[in-house]
Amino acid sequence: MTRPHNRRTAKGLSKVNGVLPTPTKPTPNFPHFEIKHSASLRESLVIGNQNFKEAYRLSKVGKLRESKEAFAKAIGIFTDALQQIDPKSQEATRLRNIRSKAVLDMKRVEQAIGEGQLISSLFNVGFVNPQSQLRPAGVDDESEDKLEAQFSSSISDNKKLVDELSINEIVGLDSAKSELRTAIEFNKVFPEYATDAKTRIVLYGPPGTGKTALAKAVAKDMDAVFMNVSSDQLVSRYFGESKQKVNAMFNVAKKKQKETGKPVIIFLDEVDDIAKSRDNENVHEATKGILNRLIAELDGFNNADSKNITLIASTNKPWTLDSAFLQRMDQAIYADPPDKEDRLDILKIHIEKMKKQNDFAGIDKDVNIRKLASLTEGYTGRELKKIIDKAKKNVKDEMMTIYMTTGQKSKLRPVNQIDFNNALSEIPPTISRREIERFERFSIYSKKK
Ligand SMILES: Nc1ncnc2c1ncn2[C@@H]1O[C@H](COP(=O)(O)OP(=O)(O)OP(=O)(O)O)[C@@H](O)[C@H]1O
Ligand SMILES: [Mg+2]
Repeated sequence: MTRPHNRRTAKGLSKVNGVLPTPTKPTPNFPHFEIKHSASLRESLVIGNQNFKEAYRLSKVGKLRESKEAFAKAIGIFTDALQQIDPKSQEATRLRNIRSKAVLDMKRVEQAIGEGQLISSLFNVGFVNPQSQLRPAGVDDESEDKLEAQFSSSISDNKKLVDELSINEIVGLDSAKSELRTAIEFNKVFPEYATDAKTRIVLYGPPGTGKTALAKAVAKDMDAVFMNVSSDQLVSRYFGESKQKVNAMFNVAKKKQKETGKPVIIFLDEVDDIAKSRDNENVHEATKGILNRLIAELDGFNNADSKNITLIASTNKPWTLDSAFLQRMDQAIYADPPDKEDRLDILKIHIEKMKKQNDFAGIDKDVNIRKLASLTEGYTGRELKKIIDKAKKNVKDEMMTIYMTTGQKSKLRPVNQIDFNNALSEIPPTISRREIERFERFSIYSKKK
């Protein structure tokens, strides 16, 4: 399971007095436009490019609103330009790529403005405020204990997992289920041979296919300790601290394992955030630091003190993962979207579970669940659950409307076919056929390796 090597070192990235300079080339190469294009088009593209670069500069110095404006201008100019050049030309392709990158990065800026998030954790791709990388004078390094405490709170024991789906309620994903169980069971039964077990697993698939739910269900089923770590937790705005965080994460797992004698599952969510290919020149030095540390830990993963610890790294973008990281993982398992039979079972299971709630009076006789399963081609488990939630809400909305217009409090009625039809029309599937094909290609590719 490797990916072709094309190692290039990022240009302009060297450590100066502990300050991380930002890459000198945060933007991709701008296409060189042929003279055949009109002078005015070339001129406006130059302005577009200037805005594009300026947007990164502004984000770097923390001027996020201005940065957003500059991105928006650049995107507008690129969009206009794309209408004037041959859509099949190389320039158009490159320009489209640049525009997509600008759109994505503008969204990140918007997020940073809206949620006041750390820019460094959003922008682990290069444009980090250098000042924020230095721990301010007077602020001590986080102690090891404090760092470990942050991970201890990510731990769920079986009491906390009680409301999660059980392994029998996770539909499909058969090979993922059996591989995970075998790995953990082997470690449990034969701890002396645990190094042979496949305990470093990449779980990949489109959003909502049940990756997190499956990992939790396996933990519950195997009476394992579940550590739910999001990549954000490993990112720090302070230089060097991210590496300590990786250490802390593994230390907590090892301690917990010794203390309880139970298998420990570290579920590392959105691993692509930190394990993206280092070949990419936009990957920030700080992110590479975390990844290097993670790789070093993975190398030591089969040591005696790591026995009975399973690492499940989850991602929606397996193709962006660093090859050195991928090579160190024992296997990659695809959590694929459900087929018709699986969709039927998912619908049935979630309807059944909802019956335990007092705001659900079951489903009407007129509902054809089998038909619903055929109509929901391309929907993931999460989206199917949303359909049921939406249909359920339709009933409550109706009760409220009746109350508002007549003052009558009607009784909760079962969800009927019309509720489901409404829900279906309001919730389209979000994953395209093309995206699924991309996962399928990766799945074939990673099996060949
Ligand atoms: N195969 C499935 N069987 C039963 N329920 C499912 C399945 N897939 C998804 N679901 C339902 O959808 C919810 C969301 O799924 P989950 O959070 O596990 O998806 P995910 O693959 O981790 O998504 P993401 O990539 O966005 O993190 C689950 O809690 C569960 O209720
Ligand atoms: Mg998830």
